Amino acid sequence: MTHCDLLLRNVHVATMVAGDRAWGYSGRTGAVAVVEDLVTWVGDDARIPAGLEPRQELDGEGRWLTPGLVDCHTHLVFAGTRVPEFERRLGGASYEEIAREGGGILSTVAATRRASERELMDQASRRLALLARRGVTTIEIKSGYGLDVESELKMLRVARSLGSASGVTVQTTLLGAHALPAELHGARDEYLALVCDRMIPQASALGLADAVDAFCEEIAFTPEECGRVFEAAIAHGLPVRVHADQRTNGGGAALAARYRARSADHLEHTSEAGVKALAGAGTVAVLLPGAAHFLRDSAIPPLASFRAHQVPMAVASDLNPGSSPVLDPLQALSLGCLLFGLTPEEALTGMTRVAARALGLEDRVGTVAPGRRADLVAWSIGHPSELSYWIGHEPAWVVIRGGHRI
Ligand code: NIG
Ligand code: FE
Repeated sequence: MTHCDLLLRNVHVATMVAGDRAWGYSGRTGAVAVVEDLVTWVGDDARIPAGLEPRQELDGEGRWLTPGLVDCHTHLVFAGTRVPEFERRLGGASYEEIAREGGGILSTVAATRRASERELMDQASRRLALLARRGVTTIEIKSGYGLDVESELKMLRVARSLGSASGVTVQTTLLGAHALPAELHGARDEYLALVCDRMIPQASALGLADAVDAFCEEIAFTPEECGRVFEAAIAHGLPVRVHADQRTNGGGAALAARYRARSADHLEHTSEAGVKALAGAGTVAVLLPGAAHFLRDSAIPPLASFRAHQVPMAVASDLNPGSSPVLDPLQALSLGCLLFGLTPEEALTGMTRVAARALGLEDRVGTVAPGRRADLVAWSIGHPSELSYWIGHEPAWVVIRGGHRI
């Protein structure tokens, strides 16, 4: 190696690569070389290859360097808020009660259908800018507030445009099976046919969806109904993910395992059998503590069981207006520790390496290693546990995306 575009020196590198070393940290001051958009070398600052000529050098002054954060479960694109519902819940109404009355998700659907792509783009860009400033370099964005073909495709187009406009890597997920739209007056089969025969084929043909998700829950869809959606997804070559066992144990984890889902998300009410099924399928458990906190749910996911069965755990913001208006990825890490009992190292692993796996991007992002995309964050902290410790801190010093300093 003779030249590199960027050399970061004098940093403690938490590579987050799996192995014996906590945080993937060597214990010594490190350096990272970048050529174009890729990391090409990671090692001790004292052992930078002789003759390396960096075009640009950055002295981290002893800060910590981690992979860019991967927020692997969000509903970033939507219009409006759910403030009236928030106030009602504070007065004692339940999330389910509000949903059954036609509020909840359906109220965001009404606002999102009315909004133009421009308006959705403006609102979502502002939210994405906050996440990006706090270290997010890859984000997953779901549809699911359209619930008709044109509105679902509109949401996915906005999500794709956000990726090209912001420089943040965006993965899109079609969540047509999020709720039954009001205009179908309970015609479940008709709606599922629309999702399977029109939404999925069109989103796939237009290259607008990287995966398909479904909300498996009493107030949403049964495992059989979600299974129908997943058959269509798989027939179109799209991997699946599941909103599983969030409010009740509805067999969501077993469903995820049956379809070899990339991830099963929420899992507050998953049983031991469900955990074993996830382990057997290699499915990632995506923990969403922002939603449990915001819905004041006393149930927490079975972490001891995930650990015992070696189910990989990711952590995400679940950013959405109804159950998790979380605009700060570090707040999700903090809640993951305080509410669910993750260690700070598990939490950060869950928002880097394991989150990348939930998106099928483990060969590209989520660790600091040669060949991985140069998505890096230098943090003004004395130890990586601080990312889960402070509340309301903005510790990102420099964010680098695809080799470019932002
Ligand atoms: O992940 N659980 C379903 N979907 C979202 C909430 C959607 C909403 O309430 O708007 C979630 O929590
Ligand atoms: Fe969600």
